[in-house]
Amino acid sequence: MFFPSLKGWAGVKRPGIMEVPQMSITFSIKSTIDARRSARSYQMKPVDQDVMDAIKNFARAMPIPFDHHIAIRFFHADPTKVLYPFMKSPPDNIAFVAETDSISISKAGFVGELLILYAQSKNLSTCWYGHYKLAELERLMPHLQTPDQLKEANKGFGYSRGETTGVRAICITPLGYYEDSGLRLMDRITEKTISHKRKEIIELLENQDDFCHLSDDILYTLDLGRKAPSAGNSQMWRFGFEDSFNTITVAMPPGYQHFKWEHPNVDIGICACHIWLGLLDRGWQPTVKVSEDAGRAIWKISIE
Ligand SMILES: Cc1cc2nc3c(=O)[nH]c(=O)nc-3n(C[C@H](O)[C@H](O)[C@H](O)COP(=O)(O)O)c2cc1C
Repeated sequence: MFFPSLKGWAGVKRPGIMEVPQMSITFSIKSTIDARRSARSYQMKPVDQDVMDAIKNFARAMPIPFDHHIAIRFFHADPTKVLYPFMKSPPDNIAFVAETDSISISKAGFVGELLILYAQSKNLSTCWYGHYKLAELERLMPHLQTPDQLKEANKGFGYSRGETTGVRAICITPLGYYEDSGLRLMDRITEKTISHKRKEIIELLENQDDFCHLSDDILYTLDLGRKAPSAGNSQMWRFGFEDSFNTITVAMPPGYQHFKWEHPNVDIGICACHIWLGLLDRGWQPTVKVSEDAGRAIWKISIE
């Protein structure tokens, strides 16, 4: 189990220089984000040992710009369609384990996405899964505190419908090699059309009048933010600005609810990770803060 963390970040303006304390982001940020797709068909072979070692090393020392207690657990699954609905599990998989309050699950999104992007940079495929079969995960990777917690899953899937006690597998992902020929027609339609469409930046602004004031760096960053994955491709994030556009806020709209996905704060953390990476890619060293407002995780990513 790994608990990556980094303390003591300072928001320093260093245009042109990409420095990350302790460990750099060694992969190409934009091309990795552009290349990532949710894969729902895998070759039934384990990840090569050297690649797995690199991923585990990265997981151990991830340059996360805030304190957290997200655990990354690697586990093996059987080649059956039990763990993931309709999809055969590849041998290697990862679980992001955390407390279930809105801030913790949002941090799980941020931390998990950084690892998923690192895996992508190693040409591995992944797919965020919130609706995994909880009983099968518990069999493969015991993590619950009592067997009664299995009953909290929503019709058997996911950790629970809302906040609950103790730590849970907030989401899981397969980790492996894409198998193109394994896709049925419906999977192809989902993967190649619906799943990749994204809203335009202007549609994602809390205040659309802000659009004409956005600098090239902010536009670049929001473009990477809007490409984040979200459950059902809902793209529930909205971007706001504070401190004369030196702070980007990422949150879902007040009162947001999705009829099928119970934990949209996870997705908000994923998007915040893309925003942070976008600013890093433009040579900034942003500070990152997250707070809670009426059940919403509110991320503030500041360049000064
Ligand atoms: C938090 C989260 C949970 C998700 N859960 C599931 C899931 O349970 N089943 C599934 O097939 N896809 C799941 N997805 C994948 C999304 O459907 C996918 O990211 C979205 O359609 C965008 O497509 P892309 O990732 O290829 O860009 C999830 C994505 C996120 C971010």
